[in-house]
Amino acid sequence: MAQHDDGVTTPDSGAAGSPVGSTVALSSESGTGVVPLDSVENPGFPPHNPRQTNLDPKKDKNAERQVTFLFFLSIIGSVFALAAYMVFPIVPGDFGSIRENNLFLGLGITLGLLGIGLGAVHWAKQLMREDESVEYRHGTRGTEETRAKAVEVFELGDQESGFGRRTLIRNSLIGALVLTPVPAVALFRGLAPDTDPTALLNHTMWKKGVKLTHDPTGVPIKASDVTLGSAFHVIPEGLNQRSDALEQKAKAAVLLMRLQPEDLHVTKGRETWNYEGIIAYSQICTHVGCPVALYEQQTHHLLCPCHQSQFDMTHEARVIFGPARRPLPQLPITIDSEGYLIARSDFHEPVGPDYWERHV
Ligand code: FES
Repeated sequence: MAQHDDGVTTPDSGAAGSPVGSTVALSSESGTGVVPLDSVENPGFPPHNPRQTNLDPKKDKNAERQVTFLFFLSIIGSVFALAAYMVFPIVPGDFGSIRENNLFLGLGITLGLLGIGLGAVHWAKQLMREDESVEYRHGTRGTEETRAKAVEVFELGDQESGFGRRTLIRNSLIGALVLTPVPAVALFRGLAPDTDPTALLNHTMWKKGVKLTHDPTGVPIKASDVTLGSAFHVIPEGLNQRSDALEQKAKAAVLLMRLQPEDLHVTKGRETWNYEGIIAYSQICTHVGCPVALYEQQTHHLLCPCHQSQFDMTHEARVIFGPARRPLPQLPITIDSEGYLIARSDFHEPVGPDYWERHV
């Protein structure tokens, strides 16, 4: 049994096989309490197995070398990452440079972190002291003397600074402290986009007469190319020539597929939005904007790989599973005089996460 500062007596639970299925007396100034303890017998610690590094100095030395090696590996990784940052800079518009930069920087950082992590774990497990110990909790309240001393220090500080007495200074200081963070609000406001993002997201590159083209080549698609059961990734004609091609693609990407016209359930007003069973829907998931690209030919379901939302393409991409809350927007399409698929208009609703619906 152990006696603690706060008067609580507990059994020595660290000792193997100590019986604790009993009660313990809690003494305090106000009386005596009886606290029932856990009725499960304390199994104690398992027998101690000394490590190989404790028994054999050669193994100890080996472990030391391994830990050192891992830390050196980490150093090499970090230096490599630094060098990669300079040797493989990101060139705007060059995707190859982004790939190389990310790859080599990532490899270096990975090596740097992994080396430290593995080295630290190996060090702790093989070389650091491995004593088992028990630390009892104890009351955190200070003694009366300590508490009185703390109050005295506060009062002395108050007297010396005049904080309580000089109310004008005190109040102006409080005012200054409250207002100090306010400029930060203005700074954070400056991080917001210049233009209203709602307006940007309400419209895409699609408009009447824009050809549907293959992603990424930009080759126009004829209705006759779209066979039953096939699915195409589509971008608007002219997208590749734009300087903001990536931003535009993030909104305008479309998935095109052909179903049997009789399989389509078309609501009133949308009768002309498909062309002989060829339908085009936004590829941007209405949950949080991942590209929805897994098309299941047999069921005509479209799956978003991020959080598994599923859309039924026979029912105007309505949500049949997952966290998305609204169907994928449909792009109305038809063909031109040469048989190429063209848009009839832009989407009739914003694409992407339905957060933006609030602003429509
Ligand atoms: S982004 Fe598609 S389900 Fe979450």
